[in-house]
Amino acid sequence: MNIFVTGGNGFIGSNFIRYWHSNFQEDKIINLDKLTYAGNKLNLLDFEKDKRIELIKGDISDQKLVKNILEKNNPTFVINFAAESHVDRSIIYPEQFINTNILGTFKLIEVVKNYFSSLSNTQKDNFRFLHISTDEVYGSLEKNNQPFKETNKYFPNSPYSASKAGSDHIVRSFNKTYKLPTLISNCSNNYGPYQSMEKLIPLTIYNSLNHKSIPIYGNGLQVRDWIYVKDHCEALKKILFNGEPGDVYNIGSSKELKNIDVVRKICSILDLIVPINKNKSYSELISFVEDRPGHDYRYAINSNKIKEKLGWEPETSFQEGIESTIKWYLNNNNWIQRATGKAFKDWINLQYSE
Ligand code: NAD
Ligand code: DAU
Repeated sequence: MNIFVTGGNGFIGSNFIRYWHSNFQEDKIINLDKLTYAGNKLNLLDFEKDKRIELIKGDISDQKLVKNILEKNNPTFVINFAAESHVDRSIIYPEQFINTNILGTFKLIEVVKNYFSSLSNTQKDNFRFLHISTDEVYGSLEKNNQPFKETNKYFPNSPYSASKAGSDHIVRSFNKTYKLPTLISNCSNNYGPYQSMEKLIPLTIYNSLNHKSIPIYGNGLQVRDWIYVKDHCEALKKILFNGEPGDVYNIGSSKELKNIDVVRKICSILDLIVPINKNKSYSELISFVEDRPGHDYRYAINSNKIKEKLGWEPETSFQEGIESTIKWYLNNNNWIQRATGKAFKDWINLQYSE
C-alpha cells in the first residue's frame, strides 16, 4: 500500500513516518514537505537512500504538484500533518497560519476530493483522508471544567488555534458535502524526539544544557495534557484502519501538568544525569517572563471515544517519556546544532528583544 504524508519532516510527521515504516516495511511513504524552518531534513536523514520513503519538497497549496503525486502513487491513505504549528509565532505572523493551515488545507483537500472521485469502488472503500488537528480548537478550560469531548464547541483563542479550527471545518464539510471519507484527530501536547527547539520541553532542555535562563510565561501555572509522540502515532494508526469515516477522535494521555512542574521535572532529571555541580540545580535558571497574549489556561482531553471504540490506550508514563526524551536530546547534539541554526536564533532574538 502507498500512503501520502504531508509535513513529514516536522516533529510529529517524522515520528509517524518512522513508526509506520517500522510497522509496515512494505508500504511506500510519499512525504510532501515545504521544509519551512520547522521541517528538518535531518529528521529523516537515515532514510535518504530508502526507496520506501520519498521526500518531495513542496507546498500543500500547490495543486498541480499534489495532483501529480496522487496520480503517480495512488495512495490509500492521505495524512495531513503540514501546518504552521507554533502559537507564539502565530501571534506575530498570523497570515502564514491562515495561508498554510486554512487555505493550504482547502487546496490540498480539493485535489484529494477529485482524486477520490476517480477511484474504483473498492479503492474508495479503503481510502481515508486523516487531518491532524489539536485540542486547542476547543479553547481554554477553567480548573474545574470537564476535559474536552469531541462534542465540545470550538472556542479558539489564538490565530494558530483559529486557523486549525478553520481547517477542521473545511475537512468536515468535504465529508458532509462530497462524502470524502475524512477523519479528524484532535490531540493534546506532544513531546518526544525531533521536536522543534522553540517549544517548551526542547527549549528547557537546550537552555539548561547551555546554562541560559529558562523562560516561563506568566506564573507558570497553566496546565497541559502531555502525550508521548509514539502514543499519538499509535492512535493515528488505529484511526486510519478502524475509524469511522466522518468521525472526530480526541487523543490525550490524561496526564495534566502545570508548566512550572514540567520544567522543574526536566531540571531534576538533568541534575541527576548531567549535574552542574553538587551545590547548583538547573532549576536556578528558571526565569518568569511576560505572559503569552491570550494564553490558554488549561487543556485536558477526554479520550474515552478512541479508547472504547478503537481500543487505544497511551502506553508511556510521563516519567518514562520525559527521561527518554531528555536522553535523546543529550545523544543528538548534531541534530540540536542544526535545529538551533539561524532561524531559531532569529526567533529567540525577536521574541526577547522587546
Ligand atoms: P512542526 O511545526 O514540527 O512541523 C510542521 C511540518 O509541516 C514541517 O515539516 C513544515 O516544513 C511542514 N509545512 C509547513 N507548511 C507547509 C506547507 N505549506 N506545505 C507543506 N509542508 C509544510 O509541527 P508538529 O508539531 O509536528 O505538528 C504537526 C501537526 O500536528 C500540525 O498540524 C499541528 O497542528 C498538529 N498538532 C501538533 C501537536 C503538538 O503538540 N506538536 C499537538 C496536536 C496537533
Ligand atoms: O495542545 C496542542 C498544541 O500544543 C499543539 O497544537 C501546538 O502545535 C503545540 O505547539 C502545543 O502548543 P502549546 O502552546 O501548548 O505548546 P508550547 O510548547 O509552545 O507551550 C507549552 C506551554 O508552555 C504553554 O502554556 C506556553 C508555555 N511556555 C512555552 C514556551 C515556548 C512557556 O512558559 N515558556 C516558553 O518558552
